[in-house]
Amino acid sequence: MNIIKMRVAIVSGGSRGLGRTIVENLISEGWKVATFSRNKNEFIDRYQKVYPEQFYWCGLDLASGQLSSFVESVVVRFGGVRLLINNGAVLHQGLFLSTPVEKIDEMVCANLLGPIKLTLACIRTMAQQKVGGSIINISSVGAIRGYRGTAVYSATKAGLDGFTRSLAREVGPLNIRVNSVVPGMFDSDLSACVTDINRDKIIKHTPLGRYAELTDIQHVVSFLNSPLGEFITGQSIVIDGGLTC
Ligand SMILES: NC(=O)c1ccc[n+]([C@@H]2O[C@H](COP(=O)([O-])OP(=O)(O)OC[C@H]3O[C@@H](n4cnc5c(N)ncnc54)[C@H](OP(=O)(O)O)[C@@H]3O)[C@@H](O)[C@H]2O)c1
Repeated sequence: MNIIKMRVAIVSGGSRGLGRTIVENLISEGWKVATFSRNKNEFIDRYQKVYPEQFYWCGLDLASGQLSSFVESVVVRFGGVRLLINNGAVLHQGLFLSTPVEKIDEMVCANLLGPIKLTLACIRTMAQQKVGGSIINISSVGAIRGYRGTAVYSATKAGLDGFTRSLAREVGPLNIRVNSVVPGMFDSDLSACVTDINRDKIIKHTPLGRYAELTDIQHVVSFLNSPLGEFITGQSIVIDGGLTC
């Protein structure tokens, strides 16, 4: 493979929700895509059958110690890595005072430590390839505004944004860009815990008057990933219909 033209992406949590939409778009644009999640589903089965040369899935937990082995397996299969999208995350909503310590550990491991370790493995590969690359961290409006019941989740996302900025300074000279995409609320399994009353309140406080669509977020990921975004690094781009303005 011509390494300069190599289009290989890793997307964590690509089995459903936003990750799935991003995977579908990358595949349609001709990228080779490796993704993982803890569970397999009908979407993964179908993509494995329809795109055997272009799509690779592995059953893997972000909290496991297997992330660098996964990246090695992607390099063996697809020849390298050009793009990492740190998308997979968990949310356990509830008041901080009554949050079990195991739930705190799970959120910090899956939402912050896992992405940091996955990024390390990918950036080591990108640095060896010497053709640059891009890291996109999926953050949340919880990183920039307070919401009751999401203190730990918000801390992990704010951590991811801080990671984005400092890492961008370090790896810019290697032509590796690092950005955060900061979505407002959209419908998915993760946001299913939001009550109808709170959902209505969020929409009422959103100037554009609705939840985000998955494609609202995916379009910005695509933009960052296209030649139009090639001078953007170290930024957190908010896509929330004005909720936090
Ligand atoms: N939904 C919203 O309103 C919203 C708002 C702002 C930001 N976000 C962010 O957007 C991203 C995508 O969220 P979503 O709503 O699309 O979530 P989702 O529908 O719940 O999907 C999460 C994906 O991540 C995987 N995943 C979760 N925990 C994992 C773990 N420990 N190890 C490996 N894979 C794991 C899930 O598969 P398995 O469960 O099978 O592992 C699934 O593929 C997340 O970073 C989230 O924080 C979401």
